[in-house]
Amino acid sequence: MKIVVGSDHGAVDLKEEVKLVLKEYPHIEIIDVGTFGHDPVDYPDIAKLVAEKITSGECERGVVLCGTGIGISIAANKIKGIRAALCSDSYSAKMARRHNDANVLALGGRVLGIGPAGDIVRAFVENNFEGGRHERRVKKIMELE
Ligand code: RB5
Repeated sequence: MKIVVGSDHGAVDLKEEVKLVLKEYPHIEIIDVGTFGHDPVDYPDIAKLVAEKITSGECERGVVLCGTGIGISIAANKIKGIRAALCSDSYSAKMARRHNDANVLALGGRVLGIGPAGDIVRAFVENNFEGGRHERRVKKIMELE
């Protein structure tokens, strides 16, 4: 599975930690669209780069990060086909996959420590959409686009 990761300057260090966690999974290939330093960049630009990798079919899922995770999740959710879930706990990440079929996980680099962020990423990777009654609800979300 290909996972695209992208952050603004507010979470560039946490992005590296997220990549280390993703490397625990031999079946995961990581695509990093930046940013790669601490110089300020605009999080909507990063959200767009990540989203394009998913909507083009190149990547199945994505992880976006900014200082709080809020701006980049709002931006990502503006893009057709993206269901981004901003998570601060692993239960939410698990349910975002199982019930909402979230294809993007959003994290706050100035909010989360490495430990909780790792647990959240693992929950996002290890859980799958349950379908069933959730199928109808996710379809209704997508009809709102
Ligand atoms: C950048 O300073 C900061 O605003 C951004 O990383 C993010 O927190 C926005 O939601």
